[in-house]
Amino acid sequence: MRPYVVAGNWKMNTDMDSAIALAEALRARVDALEPGAQVQVLLCPPYPMLASVAAAVKGSPIGVGAQNMYLEDSGAYTGEVSAAMLVSAGCSHVILGHSERRQYFDDSNAVVNAKVKKAFTGGLVPIMCVGETLEQRETGVTEAVITMQIREGLEGVTAEQVRTMVVAYEPVWAIGTGRTATPEQAQEVHVYIRDLVATMYDRETADALVLQYGGSVKADNAAELFAQPDVDGGLIGGASLKAEQFLEIISAAKARTAAHP
Ligand code: 13P
Repeated sequence: MRPYVVAGNWKMNTDMDSAIALAEALRARVDALEPGAQVQVLLCPPYPMLASVAAAVKGSPIGVGAQNMYLEDSGAYTGEVSAAMLVSAGCSHVILGHSERRQYFDDSNAVVNAKVKKAFTGGLVPIMCVGETLEQRETGVTEAVITMQIREGLEGVTAEQVRTMVVAYEPVWAIGTGRTATPEQAQEVHVYIRDLVATMYDRETADALVLQYGGSVKADNAAELFAQPDVDGGLIGGASLKAEQFLEIISAAKARTAAHP
């Protein structure tokens, strides 16, 4: 069975005190939710808070991921952060190719691909984000866009690596808009991605790939999204900043894995 992964992408929010307080509040209560159910929970705070959040959740089942990284190992790249730095700050995962990075910081498929490969060599699990804009969906090119993002993003990535990574499907029109993809829309694209990966690699690899859904996941819609057979978790933005909401989402994921272990 595939791992179930729920990650909170805090984006450019919180400060040191509120980040630590949120991590501690989650840590204190996460174990009590559906004990025994296997869900990997990740917190992805901004860079300055990574080490402190990692310290706050150390020894608990909660892990820490970064929201981005640079594709070089070290050197004169002012303002950038390497995979090794993230590992030393306590990260196990890194979000790459988020649509906000693609939109505002020109992260192309080629850049995302270089970062994915660097994450693997640096000892991080990449969470590679893909997704179409509203215009792309309405003009019927969703599958073409996703195909390019997956093919180019995974160029040179081995089957063994794909089996350990996460791909997050985040339709751009659903991010921060309150307009969630319907469970059927999410499932449809997830199946499309899994079948595509099967043609690029093999069925076993495709079946091992963890596929998260992201985009306006809230406490009141998480269960129906998580009920879809090819949704293996969620990448949560706004709702992950509120302990109560995020715990309810984790609880929905745990209930799902307990029902379908
Ligand atoms: P929202 O949950 O705020 O829509 O954000 C989704 C997202 O972009 C997570 O990476």
